[in-house]
Amino acid sequence: MYKYDDYVKSADYIKTKIGDFKPDILMILGSGLGFLGNLVESPVYIDYKDIPNFKVSTVPDHIGRLVFGKLSGCNVMVMQGRLHCYEGYDATDVAFPVRVAKLLGVHSMLITNASGGINFDYNVGDFMIISDHIRLFDIHPVRGENISEFGDRFFDMTYTYNEEYREIAKCKGKELHLPIREGVYFYATGPQFETPAEIRAMRIMGADAVGMSTVPEVITARHCGIKILGISLITNLAAGMAKKEVTAQEVNEEAEKAENGFAKLVLSVLPEMKG
Ligand code: HPA
Repeated sequence: MYKYDDYVKSADYIKTKIGDFKPDILMILGSGLGFLGNLVESPVYIDYKDIPNFKVSTVPDHIGRLVFGKLSGCNVMVMQGRLHCYEGYDATDVAFPVRVAKLLGVHSMLITNASGGINFDYNVGDFMIISDHIRLFDIHPVRGENISEFGDRFFDMTYTYNEEYREIAKCKGKELHLPIREGVYFYATGPQFETPAEIRAMRIMGADAVGMSTVPEVITARHCGIKILGISLITNLAAGMAKKEVTAQEVNEEAEKAENGFAKLVLSVLPEMKG
C-alpha cells in the first residue's frame, strides 16, 4: 500500500525535471497511439525507471516514459506505456501515475484503449466514447487506508465520464467523419480473451465493449476529482460473435489501421479540454 508521501516523492522528482511547467491534461494512450507522445513540442522525457515508486511495464512495444510538453496547444503529461493488472501489478500500481499527475496540477485525463465490440451494431474500426463502465471482479485501486488528500473514502461514480467532454468528442468525431459510438465499457482483467458465455453475460448486463485496461486509472482519477474522457477503439468483435478466434494479432493490426483517425480525434478534442 502506498502512503501520500510516496506520491509526493514521485511528483517532487518530476518537478526537478520539468521546472515550472504545469501539465493540465494527463494522456494515457492505448495500443497504437503511443506515437502521439512523439508529437509533443518542447518535450521533456522521463523514464519510468528513474522515477521513485514508478513501476515499469513488461509489455513489449510499451515504451515506459512520461513526456511533458505542448500538444494541440495544451500542456500535457503523456504516459508512453501503461501498466496492466494482467502483468502482475495490482490496480493501485497501475493507477499510481494518476495521483502523481494530480499532485502536478493535472485537472483532466484523456484515456484510450483497444476493446472488443459486444454490441451487435458495432463494427471493427468504430470509436466508442465511454459513457460508463462495469467492473466486477478485481481488487480495488483505492483500497486500503483512505488517503484523504486525494478524496473521500466513499465517492460517487455517477458523473465519472464527463458529459461535456463526451459531447465534444462526439462532435469532433462527426466533423472528422469517423464512426463514433457511445457506450459502456466492461473491464475484464485478462490476459486471456473472454469466453463466448462471458460475452453474452456482459451484453445482458449492459456492456457495449470489453477490454483489459482503463478502469483502475479512471476510478483513481475520479476519486481525486480529475475530469475524464475515455475512448475505446473497437479492434475486434468479442468472443463468439464472429466465427473465429480472437487474437492479439487482429487487435494490433486493427489498432494500427485506425491510428490516423484516432490521432486526429484525440488532437482535435484536446484543446477543448484545456480548461
Ligand atoms: N477482449 C478484451 N480485451 C480486448 C479485446 C477483447 O475482445 N479486444 C481488445 N482488447
